[in-house]
Amino acid sequence: MSSHLSTNKAIKQKDKPLITIVGVLGKQGLSAAHTLLQSGKYRVRGITRRVNSPEALSLAEQGAQLVSTPLNLGYKKDFVKAFQGSHGVFLMTPSIAPPQIHELELGIQLADAAVEAGVQHIIFSSLENVDKITKGKKFAPHFTDKAEIEEYIRTLPIASSFIYMAFFYTNLMEFYPPCLVGDTLEFPFYLPKDFLAPFVDPLTATGPAVLEIFSDLNRYSGKALPVIGDMISPQQMIDTFIAVTGRKAVYSSAFTRNQMLLHFPEFKNNELLVSEILGMAEYAVEYGYFRKDRDLLWSRQVNNKTINWEQFLRNTQWQGEKLLF
Ligand SMILES: NC(=O)c1ccc[n+]([C@@H]2O[C@H](COP(=O)([O-])OP(=O)(O)OC[C@H]3O[C@@H](n4cnc5c(N)ncnc54)[C@H](OP(=O)(O)O)[C@@H]3O)[C@@H](O)[C@H]2O)c1
Repeated sequence: MSSHLSTNKAIKQKDKPLITIVGVLGKQGLSAAHTLLQSGKYRVRGITRRVNSPEALSLAEQGAQLVSTPLNLGYKKDFVKAFQGSHGVFLMTPSIAPPQIHELELGIQLADAAVEAGVQHIIFSSLENVDKITKGKKFAPHFTDKAEIEEYIRTLPIASSFIYMAFFYTNLMEFYPPCLVGDTLEFPFYLPKDFLAPFVDPLTATGPAVLEIFSDLNRYSGKALPVIGDMISPQQMIDTFIAVTGRKAVYSSAFTRNQMLLHFPEFKNNELLVSEILGMAEYAVEYGYFRKDRDLLWSRQVNNKTINWEQFLRNTQWQGEKLLF
């Protein structure tokens, strides 16, 4: 009886469409994996270099299958193998800091591999084409490269949809943590104090957006959709941080080159990286992070568990320390 039941369960499991997630232990990937698994509607396969890490083992326990492949150039055959049998793939490109410039090529290899493996639908984590929008005035290749990958995917014989993630709340923990000066946390921000910017928690917001799209492919085929948790200024983020944690905190500008280097002297060795961060920030301030015609409400409408900055601080109980993900 019990073996009959477990056979039925195994068949049902096998019938669920398989979604393969690139960068499955990254912030976006992990969120996508958790949400798809918890929905009970999909099987999940994930690509990571760390198949034996505790995070990977925990995902495997939840039913995910893991494949070891780096997200580097020259692995297209491995990507094809990893995507084989998948109904859909969620593609992201990892942060590729200058002077490395292979993001576009990597995205193309991933997309080509999905087509070659016979995948039905790609969701790619894209961003706006800063080069086109600013007519070359602002330098933000990690945006433009993603937009060019998206343009390329749209030419392929495969259905596709695109999510555009807002600035991550986690940047403040991971890349630009505050510095303790006396008893006050000084937050270096690459955005002006009162500039209202879109922010999001990639760890909880990516999955619901990806699930929503895979659940209604007809509706979302060809669509590009922002994923946003809050529209909030740096000063409002700090005021909220003070209210939630009870700690003293102030804004400190890192919006100009000199200010950026004052806060992050280690960036002096990477002039291109400084230009890229400042180019992105100036683009966001002068042109808007998202194109004017984007639907800024969609992600919050389809995910009523979207968290704003205050909820993010309460949930994580973050006190200003540097964290790695
Ligand atoms: N920060 C923001 O505000 C923001 C906003 C919008 C978009 N984005 C974009 O989001 C992307 C990053 O996404 P994420 O933060 O979700 O990723 P993440 O947490 O940095 O994780 C990326 C994953 O890629 C995997 N990886 C495999 N090969 C790699 C390689 N050669 N170099 C680096 N990573 C490699 C790593 O997994 P293993 O170690 O397990 O192999 C890692 O877990 C970037 O393209 C960035 O431009 C960022």
